[in-house]
Amino acid sequence: MTGDTTARPATALVTGANQGIGREIVAQLAELGMTVLLAARDPRRGEEAAAELRSDKADVRAIQLDVTDRASVMAAARHVGDHFGVLDVLVNNAGILGDLPGQDPGGAEVDVVREVFETNVFGVISVTTAMIPLLLRSAAGRVVNVTSGLGSLTLMSDPDGHFARRPPSLAYVPSKTALNSLTVQYAKALREHGILVNAADPGPCATAFTRGVPGLTRTAAEGAAVAVRLATLGPDGPTGGCFGEGGPLPW
Ligand SMILES: NC(=O)c1ccc[n+]([C@@H]2O[C@H](COP(=O)([O-])OP(=O)(O)OC[C@H]3O[C@@H](n4cnc5c(N)ncnc54)[C@H](OP(=O)(O)O)[C@@H]3O)[C@@H](O)[C@H]2O)c1
Repeated sequence: MTGDTTARPATALVTGANQGIGREIVAQLAELGMTVLLAARDPRRGEEAAAELRSDKADVRAIQLDVTDRASVMAAARHVGDHFGVLDVLVNNAGILGDLPGQDPGGAEVDVVREVFETNVFGVISVTTAMIPLLLRSAAGRVVNVTSGLGSLTLMSDPDGHFARRPPSLAYVPSKTALNSLTVQYAKALREHGILVNAADPGPCATAFTRGVPGLTRTAAEGAAVAVRLATLGPDGPTGGCFGEGGPLPW
């Protein structure tokens, strides 16, 4: 759990949480006793997912939040402020892959790149900026950015490495590299306030995101566990790092 010693349950918000890894992060945080806001851009799908996860022991509440819509982000922050007055955990999980041909260096379309960055990068800045005043009211704020191993410049540029045979991408991959950089900058900014900010690589998981990728056996729940560990770090935990299931990952 977080280092918050007050009696109230910790409050967490997870973006892009109506399905996939985000939904499993919600389930696992709720299981730990947190009040979890399941944020979804489609309110109906958010309500459905929250209703499925809610139980006597799991306080899960849906909230509308499209990370690319400033009015929606501001309304969500106001809602959290009005109902809870504080946010202990923010998980920036919402992400899109984008149209693949449009991010091939041979035929890149700037609009495709822009669309992916709108969600995966600018959306994170928008949501985090809106939530920082609420995180500052927490005794133990935690921010987790759900990244990808693909965003690692070290791993991606190794000609003999794991990603050597992956097709190049000018949108999704650089968006996660940018997200990693944001993680370091937010960690620097929030360190003195005791807020720990880290990036979580869930690893390749079978979700709607990876539909069609053969041989994926890792579940969304397994991927979610990486983010949940970082969302529940104790006060001496790391900040400004990137972590996968097996520990720290190179930038
Ligand atoms: N699956 C993997 O193997 C893998 C590996 C590494 C990293 N990741 C990262 O993990 C995160 C979750 O991926 P996933 O596999 O769980 O994918 P997913 O099942 O496709 O879920 C993505 C979620 O993000 C939401 N979303 C997209 N655009 C949004 C927006 N503008 N505002 C709010 N929510 C938005 C989607 O909402 P809708 O349902 O409305 O579309 C959905 O709930 C992503 O950041 C992804 O990059 C995934």
